[in-house]
Amino acid sequence: MSLAKQNFSTSSEEGINQQINTELQASQVYLSMAAWAQHTSVVLPGLEKYFREAANEEREHAQHLIDYLNMRGGKVVLRALQAPETDWKSAKNAVESALQLEKDVNKSLLNLHKIADTNGDPQMCDFIEGRYLEEQVKAIKTLADMVTQLNRVGEGLGVYLWDQQLYREGTGAGSRVIGAGRD
Ligand SMILES: [Fe+2]
Repeated sequence: MSLAKQNFSTSSEEGINQQINTELQASQVYLSMAAWAQHTSVVLPGLEKYFREAANEEREHAQHLIDYLNMRGGKVVLRALQAPETDWKSAKNAVESALQLEKDVNKSLLNLHKIADTNGDPQMCDFIEGRYLEEQVKAIKTLADMVTQLNRVGEGLGVYLWDQQLYREGTGAGSRVIGAGRD
């Protein structure tokens, strides 16, 4: 029992531990996507950079939840991660999978928010809203746009040029912008 604990339910604590695992799992999947994009048989440096940055962000999300859980007087319990897919097949398949991943993470965050709300914990609701929910909808929009673009350009030269632009300029919108000075 932590001296810092006040108005913090057991289900909120369990939910945050679950979310830490979800964020670390997402980081693991993005690492796998980045490694795939780097492989000599693929060589998509724009996607590699994007996924690598996403992996780092997901790990940061987990770290912020760890910090938060300790601040509220909870106990961090890390769990095993699952081995991610290794062959992401195509840029389009990888980006579609990333879009689904972000939607799943968002669903998990919305559930966590519901737990906080049900337990009368406005501070936890505020934390989730401010730090996580907006970033999720931005990431979902960015990846959905990328799927549309990949459908348009087709395979071969189209994907090559699309990836080169991603490498140089980033996505141009949303939270995961590679280029400097954008939000
Ligand atoms: Fe995240």
